[in-house]
Amino acid sequence: MRTRSCSVDLERGQGPLTCPTPPTGEFPVEEFRTCLLEWYNAYKKRHLWRLLWAEHRNPYHIWVSEIMLQQTVIAAMLPVYERFLERFPTVQSVADSTEDELKKTVKGLGYYRRFALLRKGAQKIVEASPPLAVRWPRNYEEWLQIPGVGDYTAAAMSSITCNEAAPVLDGNVIRVLARIFDQRMPANDRSVGTFLKLKSRALIDPFHPGDFNQGMMEIGQTICRPLQPSCHVCPLQNVCLASSRESTHLAPLPKVRKAAVPVKLRVNIIEQAGLIGLFPRGQGAKFLRGTQGFPLSLRKTEGYSLDGYEARLAEGKPLGTFRHHITQHKIEAEVCLLNGSGSQANVPGIRWVEKSQVSDNLMSSLDLKAWRIAHDHL
Ligand code: ADE
Ligand code: SF4
Repeated sequence: MRTRSCSVDLERGQGPLTCPTPPTGEFPVEEFRTCLLEWYNAYKKRHLWRLLWAEHRNPYHIWVSEIMLQQTVIAAMLPVYERFLERFPTVQSVADSTEDELKKTVKGLGYYRRFALLRKGAQKIVEASPPLAVRWPRNYEEWLQIPGVGDYTAAAMSSITCNEAAPVLDGNVIRVLARIFDQRMPANDRSVGTFLKLKSRALIDPFHPGDFNQGMMEIGQTICRPLQPSCHVCPLQNVCLASSRESTHLAPLPKVRKAAVPVKLRVNIIEQAGLIGLFPRGQGAKFLRGTQGFPLSLRKTEGYSLDGYEARLAEGKPLGTFRHHITQHKIEAEVCLLNGSGSQANVPGIRWVEKSQVSDNLMSSLDLKAWRIAHDHL
């Protein structure tokens, strides 16, 4: 065992169980920052939002990327990000948009509420701005006032666009820090969260907080992977306790997860005179609130009932099944074809759409999967 300098706080969850050999000395903060920033400057990915920021210094480009990255991995987000900026090149264009247009542009990404909030945020920023200029939030606290911006996004925005030393703690960064300080506890354990928050505040580089945060995120994405991290190419290996102790499989421990909830539902494809029924899922809906799609029936103790409404649909003709995950719900979906003429399928607020227009009007991947199955039968 090599001895390493490290200032793991002995009062915070560092009993014999979590810290088999007590660390000695101070954690080399300066070395840590230098290693991270040098690595980031040399190897950072040339993501579009980073290029745009380097060229234009327009917080809008970063903001859109951070909202998209809240719930979506980079590979899935990139094509949508490009499409989005073409359609909405400025914060003003988002403020002037309709929620529908916005959601259509981000079709397939999921978690659509964030884009309704992005629009609200854009309106708030534009309203607070003088004519022909944009007054962007200037620090963490101001970013936090923007709808849809929570602690994580406020830290990302203020560190990248305002040079404020606000540390980002996303899942990737938590894993990297948990390993550096050899925290052998589940990553969603509250005491680890508190401990790592203190550590990240002490570690963040006050002169390059945006690069520091993005470097940490990127090391978590590319090198310090959950299984078998590539410590041999990691710039932080010299200061990493879990790597020197060969305990990266223990720090952090797997999250304590709630069991997945199995759900059975029917996706109702309602056809009438060659048109297909789509409906806006309102606030009362359990699934995919705020999106437009096929009416969903959820299985209740007695048969199926329409999600969000006190209504029932007839059974329809089964066309096929698929599986889908929404947060902790494990969904088994059956696609059914119903005839919309007559009272077989009375759905409040339904809109009738040409078959050729259906996929353009769908947002969620659940609806797209169902449409792929139904399409072959129509
Ligand atoms: N995930 C969210 N924001 C990011 C960023 N700016 N760089 C890398 N990964 C991210
Ligand atoms: Fe992660 Fe290994 Fe780097 Fe430590 S040395 S941060 S465990 S990749």
